[in-house]
Amino acid sequence: MSDSASPGVERYVKIGQEYLAQRSELRAAMRRARFDTIAVHGMYSVEEAFRSGQGGIIEPIFPSTSQGYRDSDEMEAGLSYRIPTWCYSRIINPTNSYLEDTLSLLEAYGCPFDASAFCTSSGMAAIKQAVEPLLVLPEKGGEEVNFVSSAQVYGGTFQLFNVRLKERGAMVRWVAKPWENEEWEKLVDERTRFLYTEMPSNPQQACSDLQALARLAKRFQIPLIVDSTIATPALMRPLAHGADVVVHSLTKTIGSGGASLGGAIIARHAITSRHLAAEATADYATWLKLWPGRDSGPCMSPYSAFFFLNELRTLRLKVEKFSENTVAVAEFLAGHPRIETVDYLGLKGHRLHALAARYMHLADSDRPMFGHLMSFTIQGHAADARRFFDALQRIFRATDLGRIKSVATIPAISTHSQQGGPASRPRWCAFAWAASIPTTSSPTSTRP
Ligand SMILES: Cc1ncc(COP(=O)(O)O)c(C=O)c1O
Repeated sequence: MSDSASPGVERYVKIGQEYLAQRSELRAAMRRARFDTIAVHGMYSVEEAFRSGQGGIIEPIFPSTSQGYRDSDEMEAGLSYRIPTWCYSRIINPTNSYLEDTLSLLEAYGCPFDASAFCTSSGMAAIKQAVEPLLVLPEKGGEEVNFVSSAQVYGGTFQLFNVRLKERGAMVRWVAKPWENEEWEKLVDERTRFLYTEMPSNPQQACSDLQALARLAKRFQIPLIVDSTIATPALMRPLAHGADVVVHSLTKTIGSGGASLGGAIIARHAITSRHLAAEATADYATWLKLWPGRDSGPCMSPYSAFFFLNELRTLRLKVEKFSENTVAVAEFLAGHPRIETVDYLGLKGHRLHALAARYMHLADSDRPMFGHLMSFTIQGHAADARRFFDALQRIFRATDLGRIKSVATIPAISTHSQQGGPASRPRWCAFAWAASIPTTSSPTSTRP
């Protein structure tokens, strides 16, 4: 189709190029804006509002399954991706595109290079989409393919890597202590396709030295992928430290209101991967969306995109408050006689505090901050942990985190029940905790 010599197609291509030139000017301007300005506006400018949203001051939801074209020439130009188009909502959707613009601007905030994003139906869909093309297996009888990952990852990721990808012949090599660079060094070889870490990890608060991992990945010409769900770009931006790809469960901290499931893959332009073709590495997230994503359909609902766009506008303020509240709760628990251990990166005595502080601080400030996730161990036995847990009143018992409401879980019987190591020990009765934002008005105030 793209071989057509129709002058009509070329006319649409020219109009598309003019629009893209305007968008890249706006993008350049937004890349110079402050974090909160990006979070509030993204690429939805006043001009864009009149172009696509009848002047609506926030991004409109486009629930339509597909885009209609003016004529066959525009359809040809659109479906061959020669003009800015959204064709069909399994491939692209305008509301999702606004979210992708904002997320990619936030993750590349302060970087000398730009990035793109691809939003998916869930965090797990994002992780699966991000890693799969890197694991294309060699011809039958070829050498085994591997990837190296922190073992301290969310339970669903552990299952994906340990079971689903193994079923397809891609072998995971686990790093038990992901903060120890030598462990990674020992496991990487010529058949390694990527490095993967989660930081901070859910719920054990593991961290990695991102810059050292990025150097290691570069040496082997493979990408470093970081799950930054807990930190969000308001606290940490792995691309700035050399990572190639960031994945998020938007369901969690970014979507703290708890009304939608979603995920995102944000990749810097020109990722390093000697296993992918140049057309894929140049703009990995867009390539994933237009080709593998088109063919497998992990797309986000535009209703969810609308929800996440609105959540993002206040992200930095929420994360600041979460962090302040959580450190106060962690300090209280650390001094409590019935608590054995508290795992919170914000505690100065935590063994990974200094490492985390190198990478985590509130955007547009120098204040180290560590987010909402905390775990602790109650003295006694598993039954004591359950008794404490069952007595919680305002705090919901749920397999969830990052909420504006505090939620608690016992990972060993929920999120991490399939995972070996400490998470499966019944005595380890950690709680994933999200300290909610307190009211700032005095509860005793009599003012109307
Ligand atoms: C760190 C992390 N990554 C990924 C996921 C998976 O996200 P989702 O539930 O949106 O598929 C979760 C879920 O809890 C998580 O905590």
